[in-house]
Order: sequence, then structure tokens, then C-alpha cells
Amino acid sequence: MEPVEIKKGIYWVGAVDWDLRNFHGYATHSGTTYNAYLIIDEKIVLVDNVKTGFFDEMLSRIRQVVDPSKIDYIVSNHTEMDHSGSILELIKIAPNAKVVASPQGEKALKRHFKKEMNFQVVKTGDSIPIGKRTLKFLLMPMVHWPDSMATYIPEEKLLLPNDAFGQHIASASRFDDEVGWDVLFREASKYYATIVMPFGEQVKKALSDVSPFEIDMIGPSHGIIWRSYIPKIVESYVKWSANATQKKALIVYYSMWGSTEKIAYALREGLEKKGIPVTIRNLEVADVSDVLTDLLESRMVLIGSPTVNAGIFPPVSNLLSFIKGLKPKNRIGFAFGSYGWSGQAVKEIEGILKSLGWGMPIEGTNLVYVPDDDELRSASGTGEKLGEILKNDGGM
Ligand code: FEO
Repeated sequence: MEPVEIKKGIYWVGAVDWDLRNFHGYATHSGTTYNAYLIIDEKIVLVDNVKTGFFDEMLSRIRQVVDPSKIDYIVSNHTEMDHSGSILELIKIAPNAKVVASPQGEKALKRHFKKEMNFQVVKTGDSIPIGKRTLKFLLMPMVHWPDSMATYIPEEKLLLPNDAFGQHIASASRFDDEVGWDVLFREASKYYATIVMPFGEQVKKALSDVSPFEIDMIGPSHGIIWRSYIPKIVESYVKWSANATQKKALIVYYSMWGSTEKIAYALREGLEKKGIPVTIRNLEVADVSDVLTDLLESRMVLIGSPTVNAGIFPPVSNLLSFIKGLKPKNRIGFAFGSYGWSGQAVKEIEGILKSLGWGMPIEGTNLVYVPDDDELRSASGTGEKLGEILKNDGGM
């Protein structure tokens, strides 16, 4: 792939990772990209770089535009290795380049690479003139790590915010309107749900800090560059960071012999009788990252597990472990399951969801062995009650 001129004199020179199928434990069905941006001005600037193993791909793109030894500034918006992994190789080729990083970025780069670099440390409001253009910096701690920052080029109305607004998607296309909103919305939702969700307060601050900026292009460090759907993706981030949800329900469960599954479908029947849209996910086949994406905009979440070895069945525990870390707020929860003789799973699930501050208006459904018709009718009735609660709920 050639370098892509995204604005006059500014090039995408990153790498496309078509093969990536797992990132931080989450499935990445669509691969990803590591985006790096080359700015040609009186000074030559590279903003972010690529994961180890993709350096040659990036270098060949840079070489098609400029001699890489002439790079004056290597901006490191974020130290995580998918964006800084090639920095030592770069410095060997461009030994006079200054490495521009936040104060935490400087510390993190030193800890990762155990090497002194020619640092220029910047903080919010600092700028570096590079000729016709200016690099302005905005610290965005915890979006995604303490060191994260954005680089803004006001003359180009271009924001390079690293992980923010990213998507894990490999594509021959570079721009949002070449891919389409529906595909990007799902991928950006999944990215937010699995990577950014715990940092909603920090996202709100970053959105407020960039609101005075004029922006007509956002180049994240993963995936597609935004130029046509900027209002839609910014509006989505505003909504997600506020834990705003829709009046829909997500049922997720694992079933060993079909009993928990029967309860799941009875609950769905009841919810649907009340007009609630329901997504139902079986963890035997569903991937956790897809479930979390569904959870992002679901106000009500029903989680089911059989009791196994006096506790929650491990695939459900695994999901709950991710949920505990991601800390989605403002949800209504419900637990259900079947058991043979001890039946602890439902109470344990309820305890975890309560610890997240979720509303738990109805006691869980916990049935012995195989539910009979009366029990399934009762579970369907519970679904209807939950549907009424959701319909009348005043939350976001
Ligand atoms: Fe894409 Fe936090 O690195």
C-alpha cells in the first residue's frame, strides 16, 4: 500500500494488521491498523509509529515521501507498544529527531525501552512551530493510559488523538465515508466498550477540552480516519462516556444441559411481550467482545449461569470479570440460572452486579434441575415485570 496523503503534505504512513485476532484478551475479528502520520513542513514530523514487526512496512511508506533520516520530531502520543514499538529503530535512522512526549510519556518510554532519548516534554497548551503549521498538545490522561495525549494541528483542523475514536478494523480504505457508518459504528462501539469504557470521566474531560478546537479530520491511532462522520462519532462518545443507554435488554447466559437456556428464552418472551427489544447471547458460541458491545447501549442486562462446583460456571465468571473491570454504570441487572443441589451462582452474580451499583429490582430466578411448564410461565412473567420496569425507568 502506498502512503496516503490525507491532507496536502500530511500522509498516513502506518501499517495494516490484517491478521490480528486478539487484543488484550478481546477478539478482533476484523484485524486492526497502527496509524502513523508524517507531516512535511520546514520541520518533518512523525506522529506515532507502529507495533514491532511492522516497522519495515511503515519505513517503506515514509521513504516514498521523504528521507526518514530527515525526521525532526517523533511525537509519541502514547507509549503502549502498538504505537511506540518501533521507536528505537526509528531513532537509529533519524538520530537527530527529538522525541516529543507528555511527562508521563517520557517516564513510560524510559521504562519500556531502557534508553535515553532526545526528549522534548510537552504539556497541555504547549506548541511547537514546524513552519506553516503548529503542533499543539493536549494531555488526555487515561485515554488510554496516564501518558496519553493528543496532537492538534490548528492550521489543518486536524486532531490526532491516538487511541480515542479508534476502531480495530483492517481495511484497504483509509476514510470513514469509504467504509460506511454502520460498519464503523459497530467497530467503534466495540472498541469503546472493551478499551475505553472504564475511563468515561476522563473521556468527558477530553471532549470538553477539544470542544473549542476547529476540527474537520480526526486521525486515530487504530482504524479508519474520520472526516465525514465526525459529528456522529463525537456524539456517540458523549453518549457512551455519560453511560447513556437505550431501553433495550441484553440476555447473556451459558447453559450446560439446556435448563438455563430455557429460562433465558422464557425471560425473553416476557420482555418482548412488553415491547422491549432483546438481544440474546449464548456464551458457548458468543465472543465476550461482542457481548460487551451489546452491553454498551443496553439499559437492562440479564445474566444466567448454572451452578457448577458451588459457584458460577467459568465462562460466565470470565464475562463478569471483564464487566467488573470495565465498570459500566446506570444499568438494571437480573440474574438467573438452574442448579442441582446447592444453587450459589445466581446469588453470586447478583452480588457482583450490585457491587457495580446496578439496580437489582427483582430477585433472581433460580430453578432446580429442569424447569417445568409452570416455572417457565413464571419466568416469562418475571420477564414481563422486568419489561414494565424498563419501560417506566427514568434513567438515561
Ligand atoms: Fe492502541 Fe493504548 O494502545
